[in-house]
Amino acid sequence: MPSSADYDLPLRPRRLRRTENIRRMARETRLSTDNLIAPLFVMEGENEREEVPSMPDTYRHTVDRLVDKAETLSALGIPAVALFPAIPAARKTPDAAHALEPDHLYPNAVRALKEAVPELMVITDTALDPYNSDGHDGIVRDGEIVNDATIDVMRDMAVLHAEAGADIVAPSDMMDGRVGLIREALDHAGHANTAILSYTAKYSSAYYGPFRDALDSAPKGDEEAPDKAIPDNKDTYQMDPANSEEAVRELMLDLEEGADMVMVKPALPYLDVIHRVKQHSDVPVAAYNVSGEYAMIKAAAQNGWLDEKNCALEALTGIRRAGADLILTYFAEDAARWID
Ligand code: PBG
Repeated sequence: MPSSADYDLPLRPRRLRRTENIRRMARETRLSTDNLIAPLFVMEGENEREEVPSMPDTYRHTVDRLVDKAETLSALGIPAVALFPAIPAARKTPDAAHALEPDHLYPNAVRALKEAVPELMVITDTALDPYNSDGHDGIVRDGEIVNDATIDVMRDMAVLHAEAGADIVAPSDMMDGRVGLIREALDHAGHANTAILSYTAKYSSAYYGPFRDALDSAPKGDEEAPDKAIPDNKDTYQMDPANSEEAVRELMLDLEEGADMVMVKPALPYLDVIHRVKQHSDVPVAAYNVSGEYAMIKAAAQNGWLDEKNCALEALTGIRRAGADLILTYFAEDAARWID
């Protein structure tokens, strides 16, 4: 039996793991606050915040509190926030008309953010689900989520958001053709500098549950008229989790239509898709570390089963390593402090 004492082993990868400084020198992927985008929820009211039950430490804020939060995030070096509106049930309708009112909660929140923290990039969500009483990202007719009537509304939403001061509009719906239509409308309305971050490969995922709690926006189906058969899932527009070729096809279309940035969502179950999209993309690639991914770590940490900080940083680093330039994550504020 040869013993390790006389075993000649010149190639020893462990040499580069010996101390923290040598590990820093050999490190291939870095996570910086530059990579982080903080999603934020805004609600009506004054000087209030409500914790989202399935998302510990994440809140819906009234506009004044939202501005305070944005100031904190910007001071930490986070370059952008992605804003989502919690619309009261009484204002939700099948045609999502409230979305286009020039003076409602959402554009008002954008204006308040841009006034208080002008350097912070504001990303708005152009999708109908927070406003649609059916909980779908599109207009529902006879049980079908119709594409072309929906993107007409999204086009007008995008212009409204740009007028309110949004730096980036983000269609999160997966309707066909919306990036091109929005680009044309923005340019036509004098908003050539408003960028589009497209949710390019957004999967029909079960990991959005806590977000739908936050906005009370789950697709409902229709209990009173089951014959209308409104689907209680988003499978006819969001992508099949089994597919990745299709993500490349969506990417090609979004790039042709003028997307300035593209996104894969969720992140952790789709690291291969992030990698693939990054290889084919000549624009920055974002990944959305979604509400369910956040909730899993939070719940396990609350039980003492996982270490929150180390798991969150490991997950975010993994998403960067897969190829994401930018990460939307509910850990953004904590991560910025941890990185610091
Ligand atoms: C809807 C939208 C969703 C999320 C962002 N925009 C949910 C959905 O598609 O039902 C999910 C984000 C998250 O889970 O953190 N346009």
